[in-house]
Amino acid sequence: MKKIIELINDEAVKAFAEAGYDTAFAKVTLSNRPDLCDYQCNGAMAAAKTYKKAPIMIANDVVAVLSKSKVFQEVNAVNPGFINLRLNPEFLADYLRQMQADENLSVEKVKEPKTIMLDYGGANVAKPLHVGHLRSAIIGESIKRMGRFLGHNMIGDVHLGDWGLQMGLIITELKKRKPELVYFDENYTGEYPKEAPFTISELEEIYPTANAYSKEHPEFKEEAMQATYLLQNGNRGYLALWHHILDVSIADLKKNYSNLDVSFDLWKKESDAQPYIPDMVQYMKDNGYAHIDDGALVVDVKEESDTKEIPPCMILKSDGASLYNTTDLATIVERMKLFHPDEIIYVVDKRQELYFTQVFRCARKTKLVEENTELKFLGFGTMNGKDGKPFKTRDGGVMRLERLISEINDEMYKKIMDNHAIDPEEAKKTAKIVALSAVKYGDLSNQASKDYVFDIDRFTSFEGDTGPYILYTIVRIKSILNRYQNLGRKLGEEVIGVPYNDSEKALMLELVKFNQVMENAFEEIAPHKICSYIYDIANAFNRFYHETKILSEENEKKRAEWIQLLVLTRDILESCIYVLGFSSPERM
Ligand code: ARG
Repeated sequence: MKKIIELINDEAVKAFAEAGYDTAFAKVTLSNRPDLCDYQCNGAMAAAKTYKKAPIMIANDVVAVLSKSKVFQEVNAVNPGFINLRLNPEFLADYLRQMQADENLSVEKVKEPKTIMLDYGGANVAKPLHVGHLRSAIIGESIKRMGRFLGHNMIGDVHLGDWGLQMGLIITELKKRKPELVYFDENYTGEYPKEAPFTISELEEIYPTANAYSKEHPEFKEEAMQATYLLQNGNRGYLALWHHILDVSIADLKKNYSNLDVSFDLWKKESDAQPYIPDMVQYMKDNGYAHIDDGALVVDVKEESDTKEIPPCMILKSDGASLYNTTDLATIVERMKLFHPDEIIYVVDKRQELYFTQVFRCARKTKLVEENTELKFLGFGTMNGKDGKPFKTRDGGVMRLERLISEINDEMYKKIMDNHAIDPEEAKKTAKIVALSAVKYGDLSNQASKDYVFDIDRFTSFEGDTGPYILYTIVRIKSILNRYQNLGRKLGEEVIGVPYNDSEKALMLELVKFNQVMENAFEEIAPHKICSYIYDIANAFNRFYHETKILSEENEKKRAEWIQLLVLTRDILESCIYVLGFSSPERM
């Protein structure tokens, strides 16, 4: 459906033309004085200079034409030259009826869908998920769902870190603890055991231990680097161990992501890029893109317009080992080959921005991507504790994601049990749904690039700009609709009618923005715009609810029309929270 603002704009364009003015001045915006009008046009002010006329005269000319339009109930020229527009209630109701009849609630699918790869999640195998990974998962999932809602071909890839030094560290630590394991026997040629020689909890303990140890013991680190190199170059025993690490770790990651309602189309890993590396390196050398600098193979990526130093992109270390850059570039090669995306969006901590600048420039310069392939970096800020420092456990340790989620579930459970008598089993399920909304909304309602404070008390509150408040509003609507049906009535007996009071109209004026908000939020990769939209709707709805006796309304037609407006409000809110990555319970 055409956006309502476009329909209104069309009217203004026609009126400017008919009154003899350039239509470039006919721009309509939302009113910033809802007490005076719904929309406004300040074009007469801008046109005054061109036509050497007082703005009010131009406004009067345009208003004379606009007054004939069926779109408006009232059109006024106001000194010194504003044009105030009040919508015809019939036009507004009609637009809402069309929205309700539209299968996508007015949002048009894009005419030319793009293939967009989304690199998010970014967990590292064998390392526990921590809160830093939470943001990437939450933001990425939402962008994926937004893109799909608009009809794009979105491909989400978790891009697991499985090829770096952490693997060598784990292997070396295992060797130290259990040298007798067959994986370390160089003369062994048989098959390796199917069962992993560790559990997930052991694995999660091994890595931090090895990492800490390597910082104190350079010879251990040296050995781990050697093990990483051997793994990357096909050592049989190490590869077998690496397979075990992947199996154990990925099973655990899948469980964690599924608890967050986050899912990936591809479970690709850094190591999947390995087969592309030799050819890519050769190609970069052959075409004169890469050169040796201090033993390492690098590609210069600085540009004249740079205001700060952008160091060269390192492709191979002097010992021939590949790096994070190398796998990322080779992954681009693989993605181009397998999916030919129009865009690749990386949802990664903003502290990696410089790194991605190097990688993107290198990919462009060496023509790994086509000219019209867009590479976008969506860098997100840090999630801090109330003290303004990166989020920690109470005793100062790294907060694990599982622990964080379970703390919020418990908090939510307490609140729900305190609120009213409810079966504890149902309360538990509901708590899980509401807790997820608290975490996701708390995150997504901030502009992604900003740091934010993770405040359990605020995020789990049923009041204010929170996920639980939005869910509370949806549940309230659902409950009214249920009670209506329990009176023996059906939904859809009437269609949405003209507004009967101001708060109803205010709600309507929010709802009609849906298609515009969705498109704009995706264009700007800005889920927070959807959050602020549903917060506005929830506020408008609750005001309407408090001012209107809906179910006890005696005029049945009026009541049935309101019910339809409630259905549309619910559906829009539900679509929005789906896109944000959470859902609503039946009761709470
Ligand atoms: N595994 C990385 C980390 O934890 C994030 C990966 C981001 N994606 C990428 N293509 N580099 O820091």
